Amino acid sequence: MINLTAKIPWRLNTRLRIALILLLIISFLSYQFIFISNIFDYQIHWFDPSSKISYCLGSQVYLRNVSRLPKIQYDFNNTPETINEKLIRETRRESIKKGFQHAWNGYTKYAWGKDELEPVTNNSNNRFNGWGATIVDSLDTMWIMDLKDEFNRSRDFVETVDFSKSDNVISVFETTIRYLGGLLSAYEFSNDHVFLDKALELGNALLPSFNSVSGFPYDSWDLSWNNDKTFRRPWTTANLAQIGTLQLEFMKLSQLTGDSEFFFKINNITQVLDSIPKPIPGLYPLYLDHETGEFIAHDISFGGSGDSFYEYLIKQYIFVGGAIDQFRRMYIESIDSMHKHLIKEGRIESRPDLLFIGELSYGSFVGKLQHLTCFVPGMLAIGSKVLNRPQDLEVAIKLADSCYWAYEMTYTGIGPEDLWYMSSNDTFNEPEKKTMNNRKDKNLPDGVIKLGHSYKLRPETIESLFILYRVTGDRAYQDKGWKIWQAIEKWCKTSSAYSGLINVNSEKVTQNNNMESFFLAETLKYLYLLFSPPDLISLDTYVFNTEAHPFLRMARTF
Ligand SMILES: *[C@@H]1O[C@H](CO)[C@@H](O)[C@H](O)[C@H]1NC(C)=O
Ligand SMILES: *[C@@H]1O[C@H](CO)[C@@H](O)[C@H](O)[C@H]1NC(C)=O
Ligand SMILES: *[C@@H]1O[C@H](CO)[C@@H](O)[C@H](O)[C@H]1NC(C)=O
Ligand SMILES: *[C@@H]1O[C@H](CO)[C@@H](O)[C@H](O)[C@H]1NC(C)=O
Ligand SMILES: *[C@@H]1O[C@H](CO)[C@@H](O)[C@H](O)[C@H]1NC(C)=O
Repeated sequence: MINLTAKIPWRLNTRLRIALILLLIISFLSYQFIFISNIFDYQIHWFDPSSKISYCLGSQVYLRNVSRLPKIQYDFNNTPETINEKLIRETRRESIKKGFQHAWNGYTKYAWGKDELEPVTNNSNNRFNGWGATIVDSLDTMWIMDLKDEFNRSRDFVETVDFSKSDNVISVFETTIRYLGGLLSAYEFSNDHVFLDKALELGNALLPSFNSVSGFPYDSWDLSWNNDKTFRRPWTTANLAQIGTLQLEFMKLSQLTGDSEFFFKINNITQVLDSIPKPIPGLYPLYLDHETGEFIAHDISFGGSGDSFYEYLIKQYIFVGGAIDQFRRMYIESIDSMHKHLIKEGRIESRPDLLFIGELSYGSFVGKLQHLTCFVPGMLAIGSKVLNRPQDLEVAIKLADSCYWAYEMTYTGIGPEDLWYMSSNDTFNEPEKKTMNNRKDKNLPDGVIKLGHSYKLRPETIESLFILYRVTGDRAYQDKGWKIWQAIEKWCKTSSAYSGLINVNSEKVTQNNNMESFFLAETLKYLYLLFSPPDLISLDTYVFNTEAHPFLRMARTF
């Protein structure tokens, strides 16, 4: 295994010298700090911009209050594993790595340099800018799995890509979480400047998309619209996740390049979101107006179009070591309202214990669980440790049970894209229940109304199992992850890679001929880490972007 923490072999005398020089610099500068009242207000760049624990978000922002937050991970020394447990764990881990290699070999054989392999027909497509999305999204997974040759070949490919040009209209959000996140993470692991140069090229290319009246970036963007003045497209709509899931990547880019501009852009979005009035405190409607910066619809959800905005509130707080209290306040406001308005017991006859998260449509509760929403248990678990909110962990454990049950319940053992359920607020009578039951799914448990049938190789349930394992130390989460992996092997594997499914609850299982890059970036990485020693990519050292790219936190605890 690669040693991820001890890469700098400093000699003692070097260390002493550096300490002395630092002391001199600090004493020279410290009198200036005393007069700084605002955390976003600093101009002297006194850290090496490539220093990984730099408390600067570029040369103009120095964070004064970075601290070590409470530990997230369970102390695994309390329950050392037996030889037998280790054997099982390592066998499982090897199986995930083999799965990655299988998918990777198919991709390199039939789709090298394209965005995605179509794993049933062995064709390829360029749905994500045509820059080799699968390669860039997989870089850090290869690093973590110690696949050096594959990583090296990919690195040479990345060097040839021009990230400032695309034949397609791009999505600023997808481009940021997959490409920018992948490049930044690859840089932090490898220290290879190609990745940082390319990240900067991409970051600069994205900046003009932020020049709207509100400061919200236009998500559909043509990179040739390279103007630097305010650009008005009043007919377009912003969505919460698209404008609220750029923050970690742009902060990391400012930290590593020394250019604060990226942070200023995304900080402006956060300030607008924080200040506009909300129908319920802490719950943000999904769509916003680019001109006024105000909400324009009423739907509230922790699923698609909302999800990672909430995830990034707590993750930004963790990234800056608690130095910006606003993130904590916004997160707690959201989670308190989530408990109150969105969490309800289900009325599943065989499992009355299950707790679900739902959505609000025009103020009324809708009992709908999206696969995308199943990141919530992981988010709550992390937040419960960092902010000392034990009740969040209890709810996280129950919600994860429901997300896992959604897998167990289907014919394939793979969870559906959507699941409509009866909740404790519903008052349907028996005949109503019968007509609601979708005729296609004869075998649905009582209390399940209908399904969205597809599986897109999504990671969220596995992500939450991984985080809950690291937080609680409970090995049952590994067994659950293993069950899911076996179902993926059985139903999704093709002769060249892995494919999503059209219907997870039918005896006629049909593959959809698609392999999203997030299968390699997220699904396989979280599975691999679930079966790895818990200090590999510790949650006390790293924070994951929403595409599972690990970023070093500002104040690490090791
Ligand atoms: C930094 O932390 C100290 C002590 O906790 C607190 O008094 C101060 O207000 C904080 N400063 C900022 C800018 O958050
Ligand atoms: C796709 O590639 C695999 C592995 O090379 C091969 O076994 C399979 O026959 C191919 N499928 C098609 C439809 O060409
Ligand atoms: C990968 O590339 C680096 C630098 O080009 C080289 O030092 C290293 O040996 C290569 N590793 C492998 C496994 O090819
Ligand atoms: C951020 O917002 C402020 C105030 O609205 C504006 O003056 C500033 O130009 C914006 N900064 C960037 C980098 O867009
Ligand atoms: C759900 O039911 C409870 C009490 O049974 C009620 O207080 C609450 O307002 C209901 N919520 C919704 C969204 O209907």
